[in-house]
Amino acid sequence: MKVIKTIKEMKEWSSSVRQAGKTIAFVPTMGFFHEGHLSLMREGRRRGDLLIVSLFVNPTQFSPNEDFKNYPRDFERDRKMTEEVGVDILFAPEVIEMYPPDHQTSVRVEKVTQNLCGKSRPIHFQGVTTVVMMLFEIVMPHVAIFGEKDYQQLVTVQQMVRDLHMGVEVVGMPTVREADGLAMSSRNTYLLPEERKAARSLHQSLQRAKELLQKGERNADRIIHEVREILQSESLVRIDYAQICDANTLQDVDRIERDVVVALAAFLGKTRLIDNLIYRIF
Ligand code: PAJ
Repeated sequence: MKVIKTIKEMKEWSSSVRQAGKTIAFVPTMGFFHEGHLSLMREGRRRGDLLIVSLFVNPTQFSPNEDFKNYPRDFERDRKMTEEVGVDILFAPEVIEMYPPDHQTSVRVEKVTQNLCGKSRPIHFQGVTTVVMMLFEIVMPHVAIFGEKDYQQLVTVQQMVRDLHMGVEVVGMPTVREADGLAMSSRNTYLLPEERKAARSLHQSLQRAKELLQKGERNADRIIHEVREILQSESLVRIDYAQICDANTLQDVDRIERDVVVALAAFLGKTRLIDNLIYRIF
């Protein structure tokens, strides 16, 4: 595996690979890998002749009060893990090269970014789409793999790619979980032991939602009420939101008549976790 640090070298490598008629699969990440990231890389391995993973903790998707500075980083550990999965290129650019001082362009997707995480993290998705756009330009992938764990991010990137006719296939992969159901996240490392225990309630509440949906409950308020009750039974959990939205538009629904996503965000201490359940009507 090769580590590339400059945009120029990355572009040259991708251009020559494309000219040779090979397909490029791409997994963008912020590092500190866990099984969730690795599952995307394995899928990338299957889908492309060559696999590129980017590791870039993107400053523009964090608000000033968020955890950009403390975001967990361990380049050596990440490098070894990507090597073991069979990644061809680990692209790890510097902030100063991605965002030189006179950088002034961003990409904003309007509607699907407004609800859910967009409410409490108003600049987040603009930062995500801007960096993903830049990474796509540099890496020139045929296919890019994202996790359903960040469902609103997946929908937003798919919208951007459609709107801007970018010609990249965006694939979503299921959420990988710990044995007790907690969705894997680089941010789980922040949790104190008591918070870690209480965090199980996120997945438990979604399991209850799934049960109700499978029994035929179609009233969104009734499901959300039960979800909130489970979350509130843990005193360490502070709910940011618990909503049921159309799985394509991410607008709230009152009745479940189409594919929906039951989406949650909650604070455990200072750590904000998200999780969701995608429920397809048939
Ligand atoms: P990061 O949080 O590092 O996640 C990288 C990719 O891994 C995302 O597509 C995310 O949805 C996926 N992922 C995270 N946890 C997962 C899990 N438990 N199961 C399956 N997939 C999981 O998301 C970002 O980075 C950034 O916003 C990025 C897209 C790289 C732009 O900066």
